Amino acid sequence: MVTMQDPKTFMRAKRTLAIALPAILIGCGGGDDDAMTTYVPPPEVDAATVPDGMTPMDTMTPTPDVAVSDTTASDAAAPDTAVTDTGPEPPRPELIPTTRDALYAWLKAGNYKSWSHESAPHASAGPHGAPVLVYVNDALMDSLAAGSAQHPAGAAAVKELLSGGAVDGWAVSVKVEPSSDGGMGWYWFEIYSSTNPADALAGRGLGGCTSCHVAGKDYVRTTYPLK
Ligand code: HEC
Repeated sequence: MVTMQDPKTFMRAKRTLAIALPAILIGCGGGDDDAMTTYVPPPEVDAATVPDGMTPMDTMTPTPDVAVSDTTASDAAAPDTAVTDTGPEPPRPELIPTTRDALYAWLKAGNYKSWSHESAPHASAGPHGAPVLVYVNDALMDSLAAGSAQHPAGAAAVKELLSGGAVDGWAVSVKVEPSSDGGMGWYWFEIYSSTNPADALAGRGLGGCTSCHVAGKDYVRTTYPLK
């Protein structure tokens, strides 16, 4: 449980506010009086309510793996309390939404960018278009390093699908329960060349994904160590 006594978390909260304020001020010029008068910044930032998905990336620090956020509410509502005791270090943005629209927004915000990742884009051996760049969260990294036959709930991978050097979509896999359950234990998501999340393939155990990923180690095809 993160508390206000945690100086780093407090700093993080302050930074978040500092980032948020200019955006609020920009809103002043819009003539939307209603929006301006109804927004009252809290006198004190309650670090416990600062959503992980909204915070800037912090340094890479090994933290315990965390539960998957599979609420239907937005990722921003994921409470810090879902994070296992992280001690004084701020939690990394490991909480990954497993609902279509929330996940799309989370990806677009680049929340996975602080994860371990391959050193350079490479051509995909799968049907994902080329080139691709795979990011892996701590839960999956640790499990791959340990050579586990089953990855834990919370393990996740994000594959950037690139086009002309720019990110043009993502393929995502998230373990949502300890058992792989024939692929049903994994949540799958893919969107490419579209900014409309309604175009994404998303869901648990998608046959179009599991049929090929079953050949991997607990449905993970990327080799460890990451290239
Ligand atoms: C024809 C085989 C095939 C299919 C179908 C497939 N993949 Fe993959 N996928 C791969 C391979 C191979 C890799 C390893 C990296 C690479 O070469 O692209 C991979 C890598 C990934 C990764 C990075 C983590 C890992 O397992 O290596 C994610 C995430 C991913 N795929 C998601 C998906 C999703 C979501 C779908 C369904 C919409 C899907 N894949 C369908 C072959 C496939």
